[in-house]
Amino acid sequence: MSEPLIHIEAVTKSFGSFTALHGIDIDIGRGEFFSLLGASGCGKTTLLRILAGIEEPTTGQLLIDGQDMRGVPPEKRPTNMVFQSYAIFPHLNVEENIGYGLRNLKLSRAETRERIGSAVELVKLGGMEKRNAHALSGGQRQRVALARALVMRPKVLLLDEPLSALDKKLREEMQLELRAMQRSLGITFVFVTHDQEEAMTLSDRIAMMSDGRILQLDTPKGLYERPANREVAEFIGTMNLIPAKAGAAKGNQVSLDAGALGKLEGRVATDVSTSGREVFLALRPERISVGADLGANARLKGKIAEAVYLGDRITYVVAVNGLAQPLRVVNANETGEILRIGAEVEIGWPDDSGLVLS
Ligand SMILES: Nc1ncnc2c1ncn2[C@@H]1O[C@H](COP(=O)(O)OP(=O)(O)OP(=O)(O)O)[C@@H](O)[C@H]1O
Ligand SMILES: [Mg+2]
Repeated sequence: MSEPLIHIEAVTKSFGSFTALHGIDIDIGRGEFFSLLGASGCGKTTLLRILAGIEEPTTGQLLIDGQDMRGVPPEKRPTNMVFQSYAIFPHLNVEENIGYGLRNLKLSRAETRERIGSAVELVKLGGMEKRNAHALSGGQRQRVALARALVMRPKVLLLDEPLSALDKKLREEMQLELRAMQRSLGITFVFVTHDQEEAMTLSDRIAMMSDGRILQLDTPKGLYERPANREVAEFIGTMNLIPAKAGAAKGNQVSLDAGALGKLEGRVATDVSTSGREVFLALRPERISVGADLGANARLKGKIAEAVYLGDRITYVVAVNGLAQPLRVVNANETGEILRIGAEVEIGWPDDSGLVLS
């Protein structure tokens, strides 16, 4: 990464005896689409509010564009925030709502008009400038809230679950628009969400948070393919976990004793030795194949407990003898054939698909 625009170092935040953030370190690059992802209460909004200057960190340091932000009030920061519940003024029309923050900037009338015009265009509200806010749909209101932040031309746009109130279809549409907008403007976005798919769709990098800590900071691909631990693996998509005891390692391949399931093998993503430890062999559902006869690829035997036809793919729940938790399997629908419930099957996966997690 080039010189970071945002430098967060050892930031903690306590509310009385409760610690909401425990030593957060993040660098965010210029023009990056960065997401904070995690379950409700993990500290996402708190961190965003610290970036905005609505809260001060209890300890630690925050630099934006090389400048120490301690004591700098929100309106003096190069940031602008779109809030979790987007409050727009119901008694003002679209244009007035969007231009609201500009009034303090003492711009010429021409420049004010130009800025509002380009913000309106950006969020595709052309023709609705005079419409009253109360006569807008949820999605349109969300666009107004976005335009109101963009019109200020911040270096950093902070977005707190801005799409959570929208229905699925509109949300997916807005995700693509947001991403396109961010690319064309080159503004740094810090985006908060508890929806892993949304974070994956939008982000260059994601900080996966839990209980005020960062579990893993990585690209979407890195989080999915190389989750640092079980918690990340289970939050990002679906992961099958087979308990096992780790044996000897050869390079990054580790032999595993999976009890009644026999000997298996898995790959470790880090250099940390797992030898002798209780671990999990982690397998993504789409990496597992099931069938009557997998030949040399067969590794386990089981029985189809559930089969769901989804058109482009088929999902199976497969009960495996000696495994408490059934395996979830997703296979592309290549033949239109579906295995029936109760069928005895073999279960296999490619050599490099199993990840050893603790
Ligand atoms: N002003 C405050 N006083 C006391 N506790 C607070 C305060 N603000 C936040 N907290 C606590 O800090 C923790 C993190 O809150 P935060 O709002 O950052 O979570 P979040 O990740 O944004 O959750 P959500 O997804 O539900 O919005 C929560 O346990 C919350 O109750
Ligand atoms: Mg929040």
